[in-house]
Amino acid sequence: MTETFHRVIKGDEIEERAMLPFVVNGWPVLLCREEGAIHALINRCTHAASQLAPDGRVRRGAVMCPLHGARFKLDTGECLGGAGYKPLKLYPWREDDEGWIEVAVPDEAPGMEHLPVKPLS
Ligand code: FES
Repeated sequence: MTETFHRVIKGDEIEERAMLPFVVNGWPVLLCREEGAIHALINRCTHAASQLAPDGRVRRGAVMCPLHGARFKLDTGECLGGAGYKPLKLYPWREDDEGWIEVAVPDEAPGMEHLPVKPLS
């Protein structure tokens, strides 16, 4: 599966503990920052497919799902706390010379197993 980097947002616009949702080439992307470090993850919980951003939280090296509270490590995507849900997908990212964050997502369209369910409104 080939991947391509896409420009998403200026790095200095990602505030500490922000949970920012994006759709990049159809893929759900969550960008967040904790202790200065930027992380790019899939914006879909592996438990019941809730969006993690914008309503989840980032704290102590993990992102917490807003629906049932599952926590996943920011650096590996691993589920914490014994629930045993599958890890979150991490996206490669880089910052270009002008300070833009570019996130690499697959060139193929995401499947239903990659897309979050929409919250009820
Ligand atoms: S959908 Fe995320 S913990 Fe249940």
